[in-house]
Amino acid sequence: MPKDPKSVLTTTLSHTLTNRATLSRLRTLSLPPPHATDFSSNDFLSLATSPLLRRSLLAELAAHPTHPLGSGGSRLLDGNSPYAETLEATIAHYHSAPCGLLFNSGFDANTGFFACVPQPGDVVVYDEYIHASVHEGMRSSRASACLMFAHNSLASFRAVLEGVEARQGRSVFVAVESLYSMDGDLAPLAELVAIADEVLDGGALFTVDEAHATGVVGAGGRGLVSLLGLEERVFARLHTFGKALACNGAIILTDATTRQYLINYARPLIYTTSLSFPSLAAITASYTLLRSPHAAALQSHLHTLTAHLHRRLATLPPAPQTLTLPPVRPTPILALFTPQPRSLAAHLQTRGIVARPIVFPTVPKGTERVRICVHAGNTVEDVEALVEAVREWVVGQARGSKI
Ligand SMILES: Cc1ncc(COP(=O)(O)O)c(C=O)c1O
Repeated sequence: MPKDPKSVLTTTLSHTLTNRATLSRLRTLSLPPPHATDFSSNDFLSLATSPLLRRSLLAELAAHPTHPLGSGGSRLLDGNSPYAETLEATIAHYHSAPCGLLFNSGFDANTGFFACVPQPGDVVVYDEYIHASVHEGMRSSRASACLMFAHNSLASFRAVLEGVEARQGRSVFVAVESLYSMDGDLAPLAELVAIADEVLDGGALFTVDEAHATGVVGAGGRGLVSLLGLEERVFARLHTFGKALACNGAIILTDATTRQYLINYARPLIYTTSLSFPSLAAITASYTLLRSPHAAALQSHLHTLTAHLHRRLATLPPAPQTLTLPPVRPTPILALFTPQPRSLAAHLQTRGIVARPIVFPTVPKGTERVRICVHAGNTVEDVEALVEAVREWVVGQARGSKI
């Protein structure tokens, strides 16, 4: 009797999962503990729980009582609407870009863009820490080469560009993030652009993923490109709505021809149902809030709190084997480097604080950390409690106790 194919597959899958667990790399879904203080999520402005955003969303829905709720299909068939087109134009205008194209997620946007826009013979040069979605796009790309440079290293960037053979008609794309999700550092964008101008005849086509910077960096949360005034020097920007904006979806800001090209060739846009009306209304409500003094106050509190956290962390007893503090930066993502991130995160959890251990392969070996995200909804007391809990853990580790 031949073996049941389902049981053969189940055995294989189980083996793989067991091996993964043995390597301490098993991923599982978990629910956030109730009433815990959030130092983990990407909800940087705490808009996910903002009564103001909720009211604004409900008002936006009420203002369009007959708008179909479902989008009705792919954007290319029945899923387009004047509402979606107006929203794209409004967001593009907010970020001083010629136009924008909505995607259901940042993952779809990056995958679609990098799979179709670089042409045969083109080269993509990318930062070592670029997001998995860009890698996913590059895997199906027709570019003749995808070349990595060391994270945020100007010397490495220059060396990689100098190795790219100039060819008639060849474009060089550069893929960077503005605010890196695991270290909280900003790309040296102006310097990268200057190097590309120097090394390549005609410069490079920069694509900047502003996923973590959206709502957080620059005036009105417009992002790093806007902060540096580099709108004219960047070929495409990605803003995602799932982090500080507490929604879902993303937009690629670029020129009209590239937008039209994406509409024709970006498979994650073409072969999927477009964002539903409630999703579009939520994005509208979030952008309306971003323009308001309320959002400016949230951003200001977030930055003040982050600076306070750095100052308080600096008062911890030195513990070189146990904990390395992050460099002081004006961004709400901080890495507490430690060889025992799970132990530190578990201790924080006993004190009612959620912060996640981040280990290989998400970050390079030797850079394991607990990732701390500060939120506009956190208070000075929350920061004090966090630092106190870290102090307890550091002292406990020094005494060799298992707290
Ligand atoms: C840098 C970066 N780009 C893109 C994405 C994907 O965005 P989304 O969550 O909208 O799919 C993420 C999400 O984690 C991200 O961190």
